[in-house]
Amino acid sequence: MHEEENGRERIVPMRLQKFLARSGVASRRGSEDLMTAGRVRVNGEVITQLGSKVDPAVDVVTVDGNTVTLNDTPAYIMLYKPAGYLTTMSDPQMRPCVAELVPTGEHPGLYPVGRLDKDTTGLLLFTTDGDLGQLLLHPSHHVEKTYLALVDGTMADRELEPLRRGIVLDDGPCKPARCRLLGDAEARATFGDRVGPASTAVEIKISEGRKNQVKRMMSAVHHPVLLLHRTRFGPLELTGLRVGSWRDLTRGEVASLKAATQDPHAATVSASHKGKDHA
Ligand code: URA
Repeated sequence: MHEEENGRERIVPMRLQKFLARSGVASRRGSEDLMTAGRVRVNGEVITQLGSKVDPAVDVVTVDGNTVTLNDTPAYIMLYKPAGYLTTMSDPQMRPCVAELVPTGEHPGLYPVGRLDKDTTGLLLFTTDGDLGQLLLHPSHHVEKTYLALVDGTMADRELEPLRRGIVLDDGPCKPARCRLLGDAEARATFGDRVGPASTAVEIKISEGRKNQVKRMMSAVHHPVLLLHRTRFGPLELTGLRVGSWRDLTRGEVASLKAATQDPHAATVSASHKGKDHA
């Protein structure tokens, strides 16, 4: 928890299991197990009571004798979202949701920036940085998102013209979209065997984030979406990940994302990602 003090942010007392999770020791559940096992001390005293609080500014917390410090740097995570997962951090109906795929124990407060439909695959950004998340979603600096859509029917390039001009949907006009038809090899690289004579693959770039926007845009030009995949979010590119796995953004990617909120057309980070992903 944070408080303003003389204009500066101060961390105020928090539950011990939250402190341990925020420090990256274990998930919140795992931290509770460490506490009940008597492995956690605060100022030298073993603490097993789960509701106990600590003040990170003054208390010394140890686990098995090792001092633990609060990891308060914000998390920035890219997930390769699979189909079949809702973009929500919890679902009362217990349906699969993206929260199951990202390290929420290590980063309490992690949330998705924007949403992808349940059947949409591809790049989904998560952060604990509420300010950046809000900026990225704010209509005045909505970053450009790139989608590949496999649509029903054979489509000619001229049929994309209404989208390039800015098509009007039932909730108002869309900004002009950059779009193009994909060649067969590009289409198969994304959609594999689903590409057939009665379908067309389209790349479409939009800088708004309206509900089902790409699907509604393609339906409006009489080519409903069969499959939808997001490859880019502003300067970020879906690289270095298998379906269902996540990775931390590189420092360069975080910097480019912050720059994109100043200049939405900032260049894509093209350096390939060499780190580990996590499934
Ligand atoms: N547009 C859609 O229609 N669906 C998505 O998931 C994202 C953009």
